[in-house]
Amino acid sequence: MSEDLNLKHLAIMISGRGSNMRAILEAIQSGIVENVLPEIVISNRGDAAGLEIAKKFGVPTVVFQNNELRGWAYDVQIANMLDDLGMKSSSLLICLAGYMRILSKQFVQKYRMRILNIHPSLLPSFPGLDAQNQAIKYGVKVSGCTVHIVDEGVDTGWILMQKAVQVYDNDTAETLSARILKWEHMIYPKAINSYLKGKIKINREKTA
Ligand code: GRF
Repeated sequence: MSEDLNLKHLAIMISGRGSNMRAILEAIQSGIVENVLPEIVISNRGDAAGLEIAKKFGVPTVVFQNNELRGWAYDVQIANMLDDLGMKSSSLLICLAGYMRILSKQFVQKYRMRILNIHPSLLPSFPGLDAQNQAIKYGVKVSGCTVHIVDEGVDTGWILMQKAVQVYDNDTAETLSARILKWEHMIYPKAINSYLKGKIKINREKTA
């Protein structure tokens, strides 16, 4: 574990494909995201394809499969592991990248302002599951993606960066998802870098 105080230790949490995780790791490798050391990839599913990608990048992985545990009873395993690794909240950044469990209040409070997420809609529209499908069903003409800080709600935290994309009349959830995903891969690393450098102004009053 590095003692460089400017260096942030990064934990990435996934449940599946891991394409956003890959985008973050590539951006770190190429120096687009600076002063961050990817230390661990955490998954709640042993079959998450992203685990293999993490290994290819040489990042250690850990799986906590006991998904029947709820709330803090589950999350405490992660918090204890991060503690054991010496990853203190003051020098830690946690990026959720397609992580499909809702974090407990205790976990969010332990790592306050240190957990980021990417969501495939322009929040506060269409929070929660199936955001692209929600957008298609509603008939919006514009959707997009949002990088935000995780608070105790579901997709309600402070917005860091957004990108709007056009929704076409013949779009399906799949075609829209693919269009949005390309931008997710671009804005997530960018938002991480800007957030760590203190370059993003957070307007707290504008959030629920
Ligand atoms: C992305 O669409 C992300 O916005 C959402 O879950 C999906 C994860 O995809 N939170 P991937 O695992 O990063 O490929």
